Amino acid sequence: MSGLRLEVWPTASDAIASAAGIVTSRLAANPGLVLGLATGSTMVPFYRRLRHAHAEGRMSLAGAAAFGLDEYAGLPDDDPASFRNYLRRHLFDGVDLPLERIFLLDGGTGDAASECRRFEAAIAAAGGIDLQVLGIGTNAHIGFNEPGSAFDSRTRPVELSEATRAANAGAFAGRVVPRRALTMGIGTILGARELLLLATGRGKRAAVAGAVDGPIGPSVPASALRLHPCATIVCDAETARDLVKTTP
Ligand code: GLP
Repeated sequence: MSGLRLEVWPTASDAIASAAGIVTSRLAANPGLVLGLATGSTMVPFYRRLRHAHAEGRMSLAGAAAFGLDEYAGLPDDDPASFRNYLRRHLFDGVDLPLERIFLLDGGTGDAASECRRFEAAIAAAGGIDLQVLGIGTNAHIGFNEPGSAFDSRTRPVELSEATRAANAGAFAGRVVPRRALTMGIGTILGARELLLLATGRGKRAAVAGAVDGPIGPSVPASALRLHPCATIVCDAETARDLVKTTP
């Protein structure tokens, strides 16, 4: 039996509002919340909502901590396409999360293996992740765990698929998209106490249908959410149209 909860909203904006509401309510209950944070275009309006909630005094991250889900390998920190830069621009610059409680993978490191060990140790030292926010790739990847990633995988260097590199090319404005990345593993993600996956738009239909209705296994990384005791997929009706198990 899957513990996966599915929320289907009429519009993307409703779905985003609900996902942001889950974060603010978890923070209200636990100001020391340890968050895991995804990137991607889906998350841009989600982070905008969190920034607004903060600006309006409805949400504070002053006692919280945050771990970045993944990062490209070989990009300097200040590269506009790095996820470090993305999270700074879309979230950190507009909220009160203390810098010393922001933990990001250093994709520019020459020693990826020890960087990944350092990151896993930092998650453990923080007491684990309370709420991991996820997007989903069109091939159902979570983080940069491409199809084939083991469900017990930990933070590690990975090769990106051509599909993922093509999907993410926009952020690189004609430059070459890195071929490698560092990512929390699926096992690392499953170790979070709660998972929240946000998917909007028709482009994610097949990926979400595979995750919710298909066989559970490494060929569909997001299907791992069905093995977690407290996971929610929040999506809009457009994304949910191909779902068998839930009628929007
Ligand atoms: C990247 C990130 C994922 C994210 C995915 C979807 O590959 N590594 O964490 O879920 O993109 O991004 P988008 O929301 O732009 O479709």
